[in-house]
This record gives sequence, structure tokens and C-alpha cells, in this order.
Amino acid sequence: MANPTFTLPARGATPELKLSKKAPKSTDAILVPVLLGEEGPELPASPLLDDAALRAVLTSLTAVGATGKAGEVTRVPAPEGAAGTSVIAVGLGDPEELTDETVRRAAGCAARSLTGLKTVSTSLGVFGLAAAVEGIALGAYNYRGIRGGAEDNGTPVGKVVFVGDTKVDADAFETARVTAEAVILARDLVNTPSSHLYPESYAGIIAAEAEASGLEVEVLAEKALAKQGYGGILAVGQGSSRGPRLVRLTWTPKKSKKTVALVGKGITFDTGGISIKPAANMENMISDMGGSAAVAATIIAAAKLDLPVKITATLPLAENMPDGLALRPGDVITHYGGVTSEIINTDAEGRLVLADALVRASEDKPDYLIDTATLTGAQMVALGVRTAGVLGSEELRDRIAATGRDVGEPAWAMPMLEEQEEELKSPVADIRNAHPNRWGGMEFAALYLSRFVGEGIEWAHVDIAGPSYNTSGVHGYTPKRATGVPVRTFLALLAEVAQED
Ligand code: BES
Ligand code: ZN
Ligand code: ZN
Repeated sequence: MANPTFTLPARGATPELKLSKKAPKSTDAILVPVLLGEEGPELPASPLLDDAALRAVLTSLTAVGATGKAGEVTRVPAPEGAAGTSVIAVGLGDPEELTDETVRRAAGCAARSLTGLKTVSTSLGVFGLAAAVEGIALGAYNYRGIRGGAEDNGTPVGKVVFVGDTKVDADAFETARVTAEAVILARDLVNTPSSHLYPESYAGIIAAEAEASGLEVEVLAEKALAKQGYGGILAVGQGSSRGPRLVRLTWTPKKSKKTVALVGKGITFDTGGISIKPAANMENMISDMGGSAAVAATIIAAAKLDLPVKITATLPLAENMPDGLALRPGDVITHYGGVTSEIINTDAEGRLVLADALVRASEDKPDYLIDTATLTGAQMVALGVRTAGVLGSEELRDRIAATGRDVGEPAWAMPMLEEQEEELKSPVADIRNAHPNRWGGMEFAALYLSRFVGEGIEWAHVDIAGPSYNTSGVHGYTPKRATGVPVRTFLALLAEVAQED
């Protein structure tokens, strides 16, 4: 059993979310959608404003130059008879082009403008309740880190009340709420510095969260890893004084037809090891466990939602450090299951720990095996920082990429490259962990991983090096730093798989 005393040193703040038939009497402001009409802004009917109030708000909005374009936030005084002191209108753009993603992004922009308010009531759910809930929760999210009393950077709105039908909308609301909570857990884990999140503490935190949601938990520490032959995980972890772990979580619902195995890279800090990284931006490597955080948050949410699909999570956790015991270029290691790798570059460590995990996950003969990892800088060269690369079995690959785009987590299918088979060969081991040129680094990593996937298993690999951690500006409902990608893709896929025979 994991040590239950580990907890996250800080959590991101996010508002309490409620679904209610009527707006509460004590609300500070109301948040309504506004559309981009051909002749200026258009204010759709809202359960929060009667006809006279609606006309008054539209007059005010027009007077201050609001247009209704997507993401535009305008605040005007509340008209006579409306609850609260102000009305905040968020643009949804051209109604003809309205999608869930428009609503999520607009809700995210609106949420950031609500900073400091106690309670806000909204009719944004009229254009998609789940999208509005996710957009508000994820846009309002604010991680303030670990502070000794120094001033912080803003408190998000305390509570957001979505006005809707408490019977008809209850399920969609609850699913969206739990989904956003999962994204936020993944963000909190990724945002936690490696001083506080290392394999032992990380395993303890995940174990506690998972047990509280009714999952079965197993944590293997170094002795058990050595006994069972997890040579990849041990090799990457051997240069750190904080030893590696393998966390296994299992969700077994009462009814299930399919089994999905999820695997996530959990490098709690990636210095590169002996093939050390340059100093510039190395602090971002606290995010190198983003794959495992997304997988842990996904399986915990699946349990909370009682999804009728069996799920296993296999999370190899290690810290990649250079010390006297560290792995060297030229070393040969033996993975779980017996395949050997020649180490060319110790900074290509993610694939080494994932290799062991993929073999272990394959032993359960899942219908689908999906891994996700902040695996290669090449992913960002190929697809930019917001779009994940998806590789593997063609059908599953294409399905995951499409699901990702559907939920607002952009993803794109990439090919496996035949010419790289040759580049995988080593003179001293079964395969080597890096290839001798700069081309197709994301594809080479996927090819390496493919050697560890059990015979006949449908497999996909999602490279989230860029999408998991936002080092540029805030946009839509995506804050700086951890994004929580691809939790929403995985939950959407699992909900679909639960319906399959
Ligand atoms: N964790 C990195 C990949 C990464 C880079 C993630 C930047 C997020 C932002 C990974 O372990 C790595 O260093 N990969 C190397 C592989 C290479 C040595 C074959 C890379 O991509 O450069
Ligand atoms: Zn690395
Ligand atoms: Zn890494």
C-alpha cells in the first residue's frame, strides 16, 4: 500500500458549480450570451432577463460598442428588476457557425472576467450546457502555487449557477462537472513542482485519490520492480536518489463488455540524464509526467461516472537525473518481458519506461491499448504546440484524433514510417532508443513503442509534448502551464466504447 500521507501542496482554485431551476436571489452578476447579428449584437431570450430587461441590456451593450463576436466580454449595469448589480455578456459570434467549442471558449473568456465575484448566475447553458460548464470551470481555473503569504494573482468567481431544467439536464451537467474536475486534477498534478511531486509522493497522491473513488490500486516500489524485471523503469530511475514506482489502477464496473488499457508517461522531472538538457526552459520539465496525470485523472473520473467499461491504468513513474549511478549512453538494458534496448541517448527516457508499461498492460489482453506521453520535441516541430500527434493501429488512431478534435483537444493522425525499421536496429541489443538523424522523431518514438505492444492488440500512442503544457499565452479556456490534455478526449472515447458490443 502506498503511503497515504502525501497530498498535493497546492490546488488550483475553481468555482463551485450548480444547476438550478431559478437564479438564486443573491447573485452578484448575471452572465448571458450575445450573438453577432448582421445589424449589431443580438441578445437571445434568457431565463434570467424578462423582455424589458433584455431590451435595456441590449441598448446598453450597443451603446458601449459590443458586437457579439466570439469571446468578446462586455459588462453593463444590471437593468431594473434583474438580479445582481451587473450583466456580463459574452459573445458567441455568428449563430450559423456556433459549435460546442465556440461555447467552451467563450465561457472560458467570460470566466476569467468574473474574478473576485462571489456568485454569478448564467444562461450560457442554453447554447450547450456541457460546453458552458466545462468552459467556465476550466477557464476560471487558477493555480497559485506554494506561497508564504505573498499576494496572489486573483481569486476566481466563487460559485456559478447554471439555470436549466434540473431533471432533463442533470446527467449532462454532472458528466460535464466530473469531466472538468478530472481535467483540473490532471492540471494540479502537472503544475506541482518536482520538489513536491516525485515518484513516491506522486504514487501516494494518486493512490489516495483512486482509492477514494473505488479503484483497485497497486504500487510497485524498487524491490518489487527489480524482482519482476522492470528494467526500463529501473534504468531511468537509477540516477535519482528518489526511486521509481509503477502504479496500477483498475476500474471494474458491475457490467462491462470491453476492456481499455491506458498507459501514461510519468517522468516527474526530466533533466535528460547524462545526455543532459540545456538550462534554458528546463523548468518546464516538471510537466514530463503529463501523460500519467491525464490517465490517472481519466480513470478516476470514469469510476465517478460509473462508466460500464473495464479500465486499467499503468503508470511508470521515475525521475530522470544524472548522478554516479545514472544510466549511460552505450548501456544495454533488459525490459519487462525480455526485450533489450541499447541506450543511445538518456534523454529518450520516456520510451524506456513506457516499454515496460506497455508489456505489462498487454498481459491483460485489452480490447484497446492507449498510451499518452510528453514524448518528443519532434511532436511540436511537426504539429505545433496545441495539436497532439496520434500514431498506431490505423482505425483506433484515426478515431482518437477525431474524438480529440471533437472535444476541443486538437489531435492529428501521423504515419508509422517503414524506412525507420532499419534505424531501430542495434549492433548490441534487440533495438536502440534513438535514431541517427533528425527526421521523424515522433514517428521513430512510436515505432520503438510498437515493439512492446502485445500481438494483435489495437494500440494508439498520443504524443502530447506540446499540448499538455502551455508556455505561451492564455487562450479560450486554456490557462498558462498545465492544460489537462487529453483527459476530455479519453473520457469521450471511453463513454463511446462503453456503448460497444
Ligand atoms: N520529455 C522530452 C520531450 C519533451 C520536450 C516534452 C519538450 C515537452 C517539451 C523527452 O524525454 C525528450 O527529451 N525527448 C528527446 C528525444 C531524443 C533525445 C531522441 C527529444 O525530443 O529531443
Ligand atoms: Zn527526455
Ligand atoms: Zn521526457
